[in-house]
Amino acid sequence: MALSAPPDLDKAASEPPEEVVATLQQVAQALKIQRGITSDDIFRGGYVWDIVDKSERHQCLQWLGRTVEWATKKWMLSEQDEWEQVAEMAAKLTSELCGKGASGAVQRRVSLWRRDGDPLLVGGIAVHEPSFVHADVGCKTWGAAILLARRIARQSVDISAFRRCIELGSGTGLLGLAAGCALRGLEGASVTMTDYLPVLIQAAREGARANGLLDNGAIVPMKMDWFEMAQDIVALSENREEPTRGTISIPIANYLDAVHRDATAAGNEWEGRIEPTLGAKESKGAFDLVIAADVLYEMEHCYVIALLANHLLAATKPGVGEPYVAPRFILTTPLRSTHWREVAAFEAEMAATPTMCLVSRDDTTRADDLDSWISGIKDKGSATMLASDLNLARAIGEDAGDSLIYRTYVYERC
Ligand SMILES: C[S@@+](CC[C@H](N)C(=O)[O-])C[C@H]1O[C@@H](n2cnc3c(N)ncnc32)[C@H](O)[C@@H]1O
Repeated sequence: MALSAPPDLDKAASEPPEEVVATLQQVAQALKIQRGITSDDIFRGGYVWDIVDKSERHQCLQWLGRTVEWATKKWMLSEQDEWEQVAEMAAKLTSELCGKGASGAVQRRVSLWRRDGDPLLVGGIAVHEPSFVHADVGCKTWGAAILLARRIARQSVDISAFRRCIELGSGTGLLGLAAGCALRGLEGASVTMTDYLPVLIQAAREGARANGLLDNGAIVPMKMDWFEMAQDIVALSENREEPTRGTISIPIANYLDAVHRDATAAGNEWEGRIEPTLGAKESKGAFDLVIAADVLYEMEHCYVIALLANHLLAATKPGVGEPYVAPRFILTTPLRSTHWREVAAFEAEMAATPTMCLVSRDDTTRADDLDSWISGIKDKGSATMLASDLNLARAIGEDAGDSLIYRTYVYERC
């Protein structure tokens, strides 16, 4: 039986009361459920907070804070390890409950569903989110990646015709991992996941390994810095006297700091490994699908992302009679009120690239996107299955907290 109120912190207790320990375990379990690591509710006699609810989460934080103080005092007076363990557990849960920014590296599971409602991967896709100690925007999984990964899983964005896929700015890697799962088992299929921070290339590797996509080459993590690559592309085309446009300018705030981050990333999450780097020469026209999520947040990104997509996608058509699907560039970006200029600059850049044609562009929130898929499935009689899917209920709850509109572009080689 779960308690009907949070346990009182009894100043007279000589050892940590069972219901306090059980309540701490309930909070730990609730966090695991929230991250998709487990879907099991457990009842060990503690109090169960609904940590998805904002006011309950605040009350839980208050209780945890009091527990840290109380157990620390008891530990100092008694020197019993049990009190220290309670204080440490309450402190750790406090930081985790405060959000990703305060916690260490975590591996979480994200559920994605196929068109008919079956899971893309049973148990969800394991995603490695490094600690924010490495301080970069790539250390969390962004809503654009969630939206595009879901669409790829259920083939409303169909990538099944492609084999040589590359992701730009993969971050924690959900999108590339979803593409890897969607193409799994198709002959010659592989997804090259790229980022410029070693800790994030390592995150892609961890994710690929955890999902069984590493050893078979379904995922290939590589280092690629957009600006270094763009400079090399310009240099290549100058040598060949091909037309080039403009010079490459680098966003100071975001980019130059990477040198410092490279130097400090030698903690246990990167382990000093030198990452293979994708070069401009060998990557020219080497892919038939380029994917990216949330990579347009500096003005300088808009030019290089367009340049890179054009460079990476195969240019030549096969001979007459051979099957041909035009290579594609698919990108989802959030429409943040602070970043309209960047979105407009990217669209202008793509419009000025004669070898890339816009196939489709659509705007939606995550919640609307999920809703319309659910209604479609319910019509086909899968309502019972959906109603019992706890991970789906969790996804709906998370989506409700994200009111951003996301724009998805599909461009084709023309
Ligand atoms: C907002 S995050 C998005 C991450 C991931 N695509 C997602 O949606 O969860 C932007 C990503 O772009 C990467 N990035 C930023 N500047 C880059 C550069 N110059 N070269 C390569 N990657 C870069 C960051 O490291 C980060 O992983």
